[in-house]
Amino acid sequence: MLKIQIIHGPNLNRLGQREPENYGHTTLADLTKRLDQLAERLDITLNHYQSNHEGQIIDCIHQCTDDDTAGLIINPAAFTHTSVAIRDALAASDIPFIEVHISNVYAREPFRAHSYISDLASGSIVGMGVFGYELALLGLTEQLGHRREHLLLGHAKPEEH
Ligand code: DQA
Repeated sequence: MLKIQIIHGPNLNRLGQREPENYGHTTLADLTKRLDQLAERLDITLNHYQSNHEGQIIDCIHQCTDDDTAGLIINPAAFTHTSVAIRDALAASDIPFIEVHISNVYAREPFRAHSYISDLASGSIVGMGVFGYELALLGLTEQLGHRREHLLLGHAKPEEH
């Protein structure tokens, strides 16, 4: 079964409590549940990881490189703007990944407009709230050739045909 890894960077364990004006009210546990429900409909295996530590995120990317993970969805949070090491880990792995940011990083402080990973990503989603992770999951599975037509926008459910 197609295996996809979600990686959340620092402070995202505080989702729902942390700066709700930027990140909304959904908790990481609620987001995980929503993503698992979508994964079930997509018929894929989804693994979730959150860490506040740069080295642990790098270890997780290495582990995905060594197992049969087909794709990554990563929100490196503040490390997006600082971490050459996370960039290098992603560059060294040939796993396609989507970069997600909950907030619109381009409409905030100028330092958030630079990402060390965007040019390596097969796609980026910013400013769509936590819905961005669901969009990323649909987009990544599509890119991986794992299309489930009835889950795409504008497509009727099979039983409605
Ligand atoms: C973030 C944006 C980053 O600039 C910030 O440091 C975060 C979260 C987002 O999801 O909008 O922690 O990646």
